[in-house]
Amino acid sequence: MMIVVLFFIIILIVHREQQNRDEEYERIRNYVPDIIIPSMDLVLNLTETRRSVKWDLVIRIPSDLPGYYTCLKGSFQTFILYQGVNIANSSLSYNLIPNWPQLLNTSSVAFEGDMDSVVVKDIMEDIKERRDMRFGTQLLFPDCRSGRTMNYTCDETALRFEPGSQRKAATFEKTSPVCHYIRP
Ligand SMILES: *[C@@H]1O[C@H](CO)[C@@H](O)[C@H](O)[C@H]1NC(C)=O
Ligand SMILES: *[C@@H]1O[C@H](CO)[C@@H](O)[C@H](O)[C@H]1NC(C)=O
Ligand SMILES: *[C@@H]1O[C@H](CO)[C@@H](O)[C@H](O)[C@H]1NC(C)=O
Ligand SMILES: *[C@@H]1O[C@H](CO)[C@@H](O)[C@H](O)[C@H]1NC(C)=O
Repeated sequence: MMIVVLFFIIILIVHREQQNRDEEYERIRNYVPDIIIPSMDLVLNLTETRRSVKWDLVIRIPSDLPGYYTCLKGSFQTFILYQGVNIANSSLSYNLIPNWPQLLNTSSVAFEGDMDSVVVKDIMEDIKERRDMRFGTQLLFPDCRSGRTMNYTCDETALRFEPGSQRKAATFEKTSPVCHYIRP
């Protein structure tokens, strides 16, 4: 009787160990490093002829991303979203060093005439009221594992006008938005 109970306990422990190992294996297999946005600025350009908004982003590439996941050379795309609507995009060539964290700067511009008029109205309203503005970001990087594209979706970034400035808004929150890899 004692032997049988002991036998079952051992079977249970072995099974549990195997489960833990499988979970650990899955976690490692599914791991894809995050990208961080340490800074985002917004600059208004209000000429008499045409109004435009420019977003300057700094993107932090972690050391374990270039080489294995994303190609060392290529071009990546940036999309700026406001209330879920894509309002600006840009494409930039890059050249990364393997196993090294690095920063990439990129700018996207939206011209008033090109943007959805409801979106422009809302943004201009936010600007006039000097409210915080929240922008979403999506990044597309070439995936060197599959030859396809890695889609990163970032936490919203809150921007606020700098004191005394009518033109320039910047991030004010201490925590930087994190961009998570979206599995296809
Ligand atoms: C502002 O916009 C005008 C016309 O669109 C352009 O010529 C000028 O270079 C822009 N200025 C800045 C600082 O981007
Ligand atoms: C990027 O923006 C331009 C003009 O603002 C637009 O014509 C183009 O379709 C956009 N590209 C993508 C991939 O959304
Ligand atoms: C990238 O942007 C940051 C912040 O705006 C700036 O301090 C830095 O000089 C820029 N780096 C390059 C290479 O342009
Ligand atoms: C990237 O992922 C987001 C969120 O799932 C999705 O809305 C967007 O369309 C994707 N973009 C591309 C180019 O696959």
